[in-house]
Amino acid sequence: MSVCLFDRRENRNNGDDMKILITGNMGYIGPCVVRQLRASYPDATLLGFDMGFFAHCLTNAPILPECRVDMQYFGDVRTFPKHILSGLDAIVHLAAISNDPMGKVFEDATHKINHRASIELAIKAKEGKVGTFVYASSCSMYGFAEGDAKSEDSPLNPLTAYAKSKVSSEADLRPLADKSFKITCLRFSTACGMSDRLRLDLVLNDFVAGAVASRKINILSDGSPWRPLINVKDMARAIDWAIGRNRTSGGDFLAVNVGSDEWNYQVRDLAEAVSKVIPNVEISINKNAQPDKRSYKVNFNLFRELAPDYQPQYDLITTIKELKDGLVGMRFKDEDYHNSNLMRIKVLTKLRQEGLITENLEWVQ
Ligand SMILES: NC(=O)c1ccc[n+]([C@@H]2O[C@H](COP(=O)([O-])OP(=O)(O)OC[C@H]3O[C@@H](n4cnc5c(N)ncnc54)[C@H](O)[C@@H]3O)[C@@H](O)[C@H]2O)c1
Repeated sequence: MSVCLFDRRENRNNGDDMKILITGNMGYIGPCVVRQLRASYPDATLLGFDMGFFAHCLTNAPILPECRVDMQYFGDVRTFPKHILSGLDAIVHLAAISNDPMGKVFEDATHKINHRASIELAIKAKEGKVGTFVYASSCSMYGFAEGDAKSEDSPLNPLTAYAKSKVSSEADLRPLADKSFKITCLRFSTACGMSDRLRLDLVLNDFVAGAVASRKINILSDGSPWRPLINVKDMARAIDWAIGRNRTSGGDFLAVNVGSDEWNYQVRDLAEAVSKVIPNVEISINKNAQPDKRSYKVNFNLFRELAPDYQPQYDLITTIKELKDGLVGMRFKDEDYHNSNLMRIKVLTKLRQEGLITENLEWVQ
C-alpha cells in the first residue's frame, strides 16, 4: 500500500512545467536533490516517494525537508503504484539499501529493492511514457582495482551484495533505453558533506564526527585504499544535469562516473585533511589490518567532457568545515556515534529488534 501524505499541487499554477518524481527522497542525498531541483525548476511539480526508514533521523534540518516537494508518497518501490507515473517527465531513482553493511545483513531485500524493483519501476515508467530515468549508481562497482584510474569501460569487480545490485541494475536498464526513454546511470563517488539527514557511515563524515566528538580518528584499514569522494550538493547538480541532458551528450543510455580527479584520495589523506581543520586530533592507523578490498581510483574524463557546466564545485577543506559546523550546530558530542541512528545499519537493526520491520524490510502493519 502507498499513502500520499500531502498534496499541495494547487500552489503551482503552470501546468506546462516539468513533473519530476524522486524516489528515496527521505534519505541523505534526497533533501539536497529536492533543493537543487526546486532551484533549477521553480515551477516544476516535485513528487517524493519513500518508505521512510530514516525519516526520523533529521540532523539540524531547518524545516521538514519534505515540505519542499509538492506531494509526498509513503510506499515501497517493490510495489510501486503505476498511477503515480501519470504525466511524469522524469524519475530520479535514489531509493535503495544504500551500503555494504546493510547489504550484507539484508542481502535478499537488497537484491529485490536495489535491482529487481528498479527494473520494474523503469519498465512501468517506459510504458507510462515517462521520458527520462536517472539512476543513482555507484563507483563501488569497480571493487578492488589496482593500476590506472577506472573509466566507464574498465572491467567491473563488484565485491558486495550492494555493488552487485548496482551492476545488475545497470545491465538490465541498458536494453530499456531508446529514443522515447533516456536513461542515465550516475556512478557516484562516495558521498560526503552536510545534509538534513546526515549519515556518519561514510568515510569523510565519519572522520569529521570522530574529530568533533573525541578528537580521535580511527582508520580501520592501513589508510592506503583509494576512494573517490563527492560533496552531496555536487551529486545533486549532476542529477540536475542528467535530467536535462541532451541525447547528443551520451545517447539514449549513458553510464558515467561522477566526481572529479582532484577528489581521488587515499583514506589517510582524508584523515590528515580533517586534522588540519580540527586541530589536536589523534589519527590511529591499523597497521595490522588486512588490505582493504575496496580500493579504486576513478577516471572522470567522460563526465568532464559531457557536463562541463556541472563539474563538482566543492573542495575537500570546505566540505570538512561544512561538516564540522553542521555537527557543532547539532551539539554533536556522541563518542559512541557508531552505535547511533546516524549509522544506517543501526537504524534498520533497531527497527528489526523492536519488531517494526520484517527481515524482508517491510513495515509491520
Ligand atoms: N551515499 C553515497 O555515498 C552513495 C554513493 C553512490 C551511490 N549512492 C546511491 O544514492 C542513493 C541514495 O543514497 P543515500 O546516501 O541518500 O541513501 P539513504 O540510505 O540515506 O537513503 C535511501 C532512501 O531510500 C529509501 N528506501 C529504501 N528502500 C526503499 C523501498 N523499498 N521503497 C521506498 N523507499 C526505500 C530509504 O527509506 C531512504 O530514505 C542510493 O541509491 C545509493 O545507493 C549513494
